[in-house]
Amino acid sequence: MLFDTHAHLDDGRFDEDRKPVLEQCKAEGVELILNAASDVRSSLKSIALAEEYDFIYASVGVHPHDAKSMDNKTIDVLRDLSSNPKVKAIGEIGLDYHYDFSPREVQKQRFMEQIDLAKQLKLPIIVHDRESHGDIIEIFKNMNVKGMGGVLHSFSGSVEMARECLKLGFYLSISGPITFKNNIKTVEVVREIPLDMLLIETDSPYLTPVPYRGQRNYPGYVRYVAEKIAEIKGIDFEEVAQKTLENGKKLFGI
Ligand code: NI
Repeated sequence: MLFDTHAHLDDGRFDEDRKPVLEQCKAEGVELILNAASDVRSSLKSIALAEEYDFIYASVGVHPHDAKSMDNKTIDVLRDLSSNPKVKAIGEIGLDYHYDFSPREVQKQRFMEQIDLAKQLKLPIIVHDRESHGDIIEIFKNMNVKGMGGVLHSFSGSVEMARECLKLGFYLSISGPITFKNNIKTVEVVREIPLDMLLIETDSPYLTPVPYRGQRNYPGYVRYVAEKIAEIKGIDFEEVAQKTLENGKKLFGI
């Protein structure tokens, strides 16, 4: 009964064994997976996976790393792709000031264009925010995103930032780093934010939780994120699994 709300199963690191890996997800109790796209090519792959497997849904969108690859036709391509009934969100989109693979002005511009597309399509957004909290909030306010629905994926901000996002109706998605010993900030976020507004994810093949840190991640490991949330909040694992599943279904309209 787990919902991994953010995975990249189209990644090349699953090319050798994608089918058995997906069977293993089911065996581990993963009921749903949202496969997040990062560019047009992975949007297509994400849809193909969702069409092949009942329990996988897709998003389409261009990651800030690839913002510079977008041209004036990209939005139309994404719009066409999103007409597939298994596409449930626009993402992942946002800002990444850690790597700065695309110029910041380009990142902002393409982020805003994709927010606008999501609004037109009445789809929620999956937001990537790395070391760009201030500009994310500023764009949220300028774009009037309140109520459109969305999630801050692999949330890494402070409790204050979390509260700002909640006011706008955004969910916060918790990933593997919550299990890392030194992650005091996100532990505080999980403690303070109601379970109603939390989602869980792996971001696989990245961000592998303890006790498998360093190996390839996969959606079956989302249970370690749920276990850690249960421990922090002093509630049952089952409650975290059930509630985050319901939250994800509600956000993505599944
Ligand atoms: Ni991701």
